[in-house]
Parts: sequence; structure tokens; C-alpha cells
Amino acid sequence: TLFKVLASASALGILLSGNALAADPIVIKFSHVVADETPKGQGALLFKKLVEEKYPNQVKVEVYPNSSLYGDGKEMEALLLNNVQMLAPSLAKFDKYAPQIQLFDLPFLFDDIQAVERFEKSEAGKSLLNTMTDKGITGLGYWNNDLKQLSANKALKLPKDARGLKFRVQNSEVLDAQFKQLNAVPRKMSFSEMYQGLQTGVVNGAENPYSNIYSQKIHEVQKYITESNHGLLSYMVIVNTKFWDGLPPELRTGLSEIMDQVSDEVNKKSHEFNLADKQKIIDAKTSEIIYLTPEERSQWREAMRPVWKKFEDSIGADLIKAAEASNQ
Ligand code: LMR
Repeated sequence: TLFKVLASASALGILLSGNALAADPIVIKFSHVVADETPKGQGALLFKKLVEEKYPNQVKVEVYPNSSLYGDGKEMEALLLNNVQMLAPSLAKFDKYAPQIQLFDLPFLFDDIQAVERFEKSEAGKSLLNTMTDKGITGLGYWNNDLKQLSANKALKLPKDARGLKFRVQNSEVLDAQFKQLNAVPRKMSFSEMYQGLQTGVVNGAENPYSNIYSQKIHEVQKYITESNHGLLSYMVIVNTKFWDGLPPELRTGLSEIMDQVSDEVNKKSHEFNLADKQKIIDAKTSEIIYLTPEERSQWREAMRPVWKKFEDSIGADLIKAAEASNQ
């Protein structure tokens, strides 16, 4: 009967799609070093959700937060070996691959997070996403965290207060130079070691946006947080170029579109996310937040300023100008 034919045809359909289902999904391992409850952590989970909704059975995104798969000392290597396919390292961690990206860590470069976004959307900003493809790294977009605050076990009001203190820094020459400029002692240390480093006194201070301070409980091991907004913590979402270029073109386009959507979402919310974490830090009453007068803040700016000259050649004077222009 017709019914039987239709039934068996649909059974065949199920069988066929069953076969399609049985094909191994493409797995994107996304490793990062922060908590789920941070702008980057949330972005990674949103990317997973949207991709798996749009490509059920075809693509699987595995998110590994908190350095659970690779810490920041090893994650770039892992990406180049295609052991992970996607990362979002902080822009401070690209020294070795693209010196231009050191731009983002120049102290007091951006007035606020809106200026950061304007720059990232500009031609100059976008062009930086493609500077590492010859090394096997493709940039898909920027995710902002927020501006950084200084923390220490000593009240930091003026640059001289930092003298002689040991500060944890990311693996970045610019940040190393920034603390040397204060006559402080920078110590490069991976993100996962920071809490213990501060707790045991291996280092006395650090620089983080509020979301990292709160999610790593840094406020429990630092008596003072100076709201300096002196530098930026943002990320570039990157993929292994060979992996990415080897994807079916339609899928690659689809994933790019999802990534753009996620980047917009992260960047829309990250500042507020940080403000909410600031409030939680205030409520915890474990550390005091120090606010600077404009005069005090300009002293920090002056003290750190020579770093710009030091890195002008490796970054490029034009690029620095383009970034400064985004402040207006
Ligand atoms: C840091 O090492 O302080 C940051 O790069 C961590 C992060 O990914 O937010």
C-alpha cells in the first residue's frame, strides 16, 4: 500500500540520517585559563551553545576552563600542534608571534572600554587579526574583559608606593617594562599560579580587571585595590589556521557568523560584568578600594609613559597613533 511505501521510505530516511549521525562530529577544543563566571568563560560557553544548536551532531565544542587542559604557558603550543583548535589568550601573550599586538598593553593607551571597541572595529584593529596566519594562527575576533586595576598588600596611591614591590605579570615584555618603570620588581607567572603567589608572598601585588580579581579570589589575598584603570585586558579569539582552512567553506562561514555574534555579546556585557564583580568585592569587605584623584592618576600615567617609547619601533608609531585616535 501507499502507506507502507511511505513508511518504509521514511524509515530509510531515518536510516540515512542515522548514518549521517554516525559520522564523527568535528570537535573544537576550546581551552582557556579563567573561570566560567567571567566574560571570556561566558563567551566560550555561548559559542558552544550556539554552534551546537546550529550544527547538532556535526560540530562539538568542548570548553576547558580554569587551565584544566592547558595553562597559559602551554596553550599556544597546544594550538599550534592542533591539540586544541581554539583559544582566547590575552593580547599580552602574543609577544613572540606578533610584536604589533604589544600595542594593547601600553599603559594608559585607551581612555575607556568604548575607545577599545572603536579601535578593534577600525581597519587598523581588524588587520591585526590576520598578522599571524603565516605562523599558523588565525584571529577571529576580539573579546574584551575590562581595564585593569592594581592590587597589593600596601596602599598604592602614588607611583612611589610601588617601589620595590614584587608584581605578578603576564608573560609580556611591555608589562615587565611597565613595572620596572615604577622601580618595582615584575615576576612573570602563569595565571593559575597567581593566587598562591600572592598568598605565600612570592609576589606582593598584581594587575587584573575586577572579574579576574573576584573569580580568582585575589581580593582575599590583597588588602588594597587601586582603581587605576591603567591598562587593558582583552583577548583575541584564535584558531589553528590549518584546522580552520580545512573546514568545509559553508561551515567556516557559519562558525564565523556565530563568532561575530558572540563577540558582540561579550563586548556588550563585559564592562557591566566587571562592575558587578566590583560590587561583590566591596560586599566581601576583605580589601579596600582606593580611588585616585585626577592628579594622582596623572602621576601614574607620567611614571609609566616611557614604556611607549621603548616599544614604539616594534609596535609601529602609526599603529599607536591609530589607537590613540580612537579615544576621541
Ligand atoms: C592573566 O594571565 O592575567 C590573564 O591573561 C588571564 C585571562 O585570560 O584573563
